[in-house]
Amino acid sequence: MRISNEEMLAPTDIPFNQVPPYRVKVVEYTKPTTRAQRKELIKQHNWSAPNLPAEYVYVNMVTDSGTSAMSDRQWVAMWLGDESYFNCKSWYGLEDALQTFTGMKYILPSHQGRSGEGIVYEEFVKAGDLVPSNCHFTTTRAHCYYNDAIPMDMTCPEYYDEKNTSWFKGNIDTVKLEQLFKENADKIGFVELVAPNNLCAGQPVSMANIREVRRIIDKYKKRDVIFSLDVARISENAWIIKKYEAGYGDKSCLEIVQEMMSYADLSHMSAKKCGLVNMGGFVSVRDKINYMKLQPKLIRMDGFLTYGGLAGRDLEALAVGIMEGVNDYYLEDKQRQCDVFANACKARGVATFNPACTLGAWILAEYCLPHIPKKNGPGTALCVQAYIEGGVGFTSMDSLHRGREDSSDPTNVEKIQLAPYELIRCAFPRRAYTDSHYEWCAESLYRAMQWGDKIPGYVRQKMDDIRPPLQKRDIGLRAFFDEYEPLFEHP
Ligand SMILES: Cc1ncc(COP(=O)(O)O)c(C=O)c1O
Repeated sequence: MRISNEEMLAPTDIPFNQVPPYRVKVVEYTKPTTRAQRKELIKQHNWSAPNLPAEYVYVNMVTDSGTSAMSDRQWVAMWLGDESYFNCKSWYGLEDALQTFTGMKYILPSHQGRSGEGIVYEEFVKAGDLVPSNCHFTTTRAHCYYNDAIPMDMTCPEYYDEKNTSWFKGNIDTVKLEQLFKENADKIGFVELVAPNNLCAGQPVSMANIREVRRIIDKYKKRDVIFSLDVARISENAWIIKKYEAGYGDKSCLEIVQEMMSYADLSHMSAKKCGLVNMGGFVSVRDKINYMKLQPKLIRMDGFLTYGGLAGRDLEALAVGIMEGVNDYYLEDKQRQCDVFANACKARGVATFNPACTLGAWILAEYCLPHIPKKNGPGTALCVQAYIEGGVGFTSMDSLHRGREDSSDPTNVEKIQLAPYELIRCAFPRRAYTDSHYEWCAESLYRAMQWGDKIPGYVRQKMDDIRPPLQKRDIGLRAFFDEYEPLFEHP
């Protein structure tokens, strides 16, 4: 008999802020490589860490999306997958779990986050609309452009102040939001809050901020407005609220998630993160009519209402994973691992964005490689050198890769703005690596930094001659197509 959700949360004096609440049953071997091989490999792949075949990446912190290790409970559940087309048994268990998780009655399964977002944006975002957010994720930004709307990122001022010690630097700037509503309420039909804020160093959003957004919408709206939460990592956000927002210490993370959701009209989730599955997602909707509006779109884009692009076994895995992912002991351990890595970086003089919050840790590459100007991608350069040193993979989110287009004139490359920080995202595949892996990643960054000005900056390459220029609606996906070259060879 597998351990139940309740048993997993039984009172204990075992310190899960020091040790994990699980043990390992299956291991995956990795391909050993040498420094010389890695240098050759990355050279062959255009000096681009994301271009590398993953089998040559020893510790892969490029993303936490779909990279979780599943539990024995999930693998057992998968065997019970009902693969009937209509109304499979597996759907009802998942629907029940997601109704509990979100507190919303209507659930639409989707094969991953972006397909759920696609139908939501198609229905609720109209041409000419302004779509405010604390910072759109790449795909919701793209959905805005696809619907001829303007994404507006309104990250709070605390985020831009490196020294600020707030735990909620992912908030939306509610002063700006209120002003936008006062001036343009007729153009706002959809507000998106990403919790936590992936593209702003994974910083969490506070309950107070979510509540305030609700208040502003209710006070100023001039038409129907959907308040939507992008909840890929909401359980990890809930842990930070539990620890650092007054009044939540005695609540479970599940209760906190439910309260966060209670202010929203709709949520969409890439379950590949806090759902602890390798594939899956959903949309939850409070209002029946809105749910009904989305139904035909789901059938056109992803699949029938009871599977949404997923196999019955995937539905089973998610029904179990969503509750494991919001377990307080597990979340405490997840934060502990982030701290292990962030502290290992700090001890070696590798600058981190503070605080490092459950989703991952971000490196401030401008301090690690001060000789490389922002426009020449210090993050990109450090990622490449760290791979050469230790076989580790990270994602560069520096000005070169993630400089922001002007959303009212998106195809104008002259208007791309430098990023506020030259970040590297070090994401934590859930339950997949040990503390010593993370120590090694910090060590690889440290060794990379030691090369100092022998490490080259980067410039954008001309696009492949036969590649058509990206259209306005695809411009938000630029980072996937741009290519870069180093100004000289890496050491
Ligand atoms: C905050 C956020 N929203 C949405 C998505 C899209 O999810 P998916 O990759 O499952 O389509 C991601 C993916 O990384 C994300 O980080």
